[in-house]
Amino acid sequence: MASEHIRILLVDDEQRLLDALAKGLGAMGYEVSACSSASTALRTLESESFHVLVTDLVMPEMDGMALLDRVREKHPGLPVIILTGHGTIPGAVKAMRQGAFNFITKPYNLDEVDANLKKAAEHASLIAENQALREQVDRRISFAGIIGESAPMQNVFRIIERVKDTHSTVLITGESGTGKELAARALHFSGFLKDKPFVTVDCAALAESLLESELFGHVRGAFTGAHKDHAGFFEAAHGGTIFLDEIGEFSPGLQTRLLRVLQEGEFTRVGDNKPRKVDVRVIAATNRDLESAVARGSFREDLFYRLNVISILMPPLRQRIEDIPVLINHFLHKFNRKIGKRVMRVTPDAMEIFVNYTWPGNVRELENMMERLVTFCDDDAIKAIALPDEVKSKASQVQEEQRQAKTLIGMTYKEAKADIVEKFTVEYLETLLTDCDGKITRAANRSGMDRGCFYRLMKKYGIEKDLLLDD
Ligand SMILES: Nc1ncnc2c1ncn2[C@@H]1O[C@H](COP(=O)(O)OP(=O)(O)OP(=O)(O)O)[C@@H](O)[C@H]1O
Ligand SMILES: [Mg+2]
Repeated sequence: MASEHIRILLVDDEQRLLDALAKGLGAMGYEVSACSSASTALRTLESESFHVLVTDLVMPEMDGMALLDRVREKHPGLPVIILTGHGTIPGAVKAMRQGAFNFITKPYNLDEVDANLKKAAEHASLIAENQALREQVDRRISFAGIIGESAPMQNVFRIIERVKDTHSTVLITGESGTGKELAARALHFSGFLKDKPFVTVDCAALAESLLESELFGHVRGAFTGAHKDHAGFFEAAHGGTIFLDEIGEFSPGLQTRLLRVLQEGEFTRVGDNKPRKVDVRVIAATNRDLESAVARGSFREDLFYRLNVISILMPPLRQRIEDIPVLINHFLHKFNRKIGKRVMRVTPDAMEIFVNYTWPGNVRELENMMERLVTFCDDDAIKAIALPDEVKSKASQVQEEQRQAKTLIGMTYKEAKADIVEKFTVEYLETLLTDCDGKITRAANRSGMDRGCFYRLMKKYGIEKDLLLDD
């Protein structure tokens, strides 16, 4: 852990020692505040937050031990390191028993203080994280690595819980980046097949002929380049789970072969006619609307029903904005750990932008953005100014729309209806007129109104005559 952004509160009644230590630690990159008495330290703690408190043991008025007691009581997550002269080691040991993190004997060596501070800060952050994790389990903010507090995510957790120990085929649908793969992994790795193989096939990444031989395997000589027999993904997944990602990309021929595996647990390798048995639980995912693919005839209906025995819909992030703060918190921890930073929070105005933004790339977009923001953050908080311009402008547009929707609520039903009807009519008439090159008779015909009626509407809503050409 780097010393930057670790905030230290130093307490010592001997001003000279206090200044020397503050200066030494400051030079190492720590953010240091110094107090010359325990009571000032307690007051400072009321208004500011620190990662570690370092205190002298022997001080007039309130000593280090009494300060330790008060800190344990009021700020239990704050680790306390005791500085002590040679004569007071038994006191320091007692302090350890009362919950001090460690003690350092004077005259101290700066490197030793540095190492202790880092250890204490790390320890405190682990405890806080652990605590947060435990609370999450209780409130079910997370399930097998999937974060989500919202009702639709709670529903996803419930379905996974119910089917993880079955062989049922599961179809996971949802927009890109909503966590379909994460859900598939959760299903496998939290369930009774967790010690068995989990094989992922990205069906969109492979050309059809290749996909077929990758899935079902091939025998030697099946095609040019097939120098030896090759077992496919289905055989590799035997006894476990195969995750067919982007199933919407399956060609009709592959759909038929997949249906046979699902119905009979049987397939043949490419170029072979010997049927082989396989016992595999299938999880399929798609970001396409398979039902309409079925209606269009591009996806087999019987296969759809076979796959859709249990379905899990991963809702888009914009429909579960209450998950955004918990996800942000999760990603802050993740990237702090990965990058070695200590970015503790997102300021309220930045959070408002995060919540209003529409997240077309869903959780993946949020995750990538958090990684960038944590990487470039030189502070303990992510501020609104650091967010990309397009995110800020989209968020303020959404906010404006919401504000307008709210003003509707301030009207009576009749007023609100008239307002909407006016907006709608103006847009309808203008679009139609533009499309008819401004010719009223033609536009009226297409609208199903007679010309007089159409013209009256135009007048009522002030649609400019000079926009129009002659009929
Ligand atoms: N609820 C969640 N909690 C934590 N991380 C999540 C969540 N949902 C998605 N992620 C993360 O977002 C990224 C995208 O998730 P995933 O790959 O599962 O999405 P997907 O729906 O399969 O997307 P695509 O359709 O583009 O393949 C991953 O890094 C994943 O860990
Ligand atoms: Mg995916």
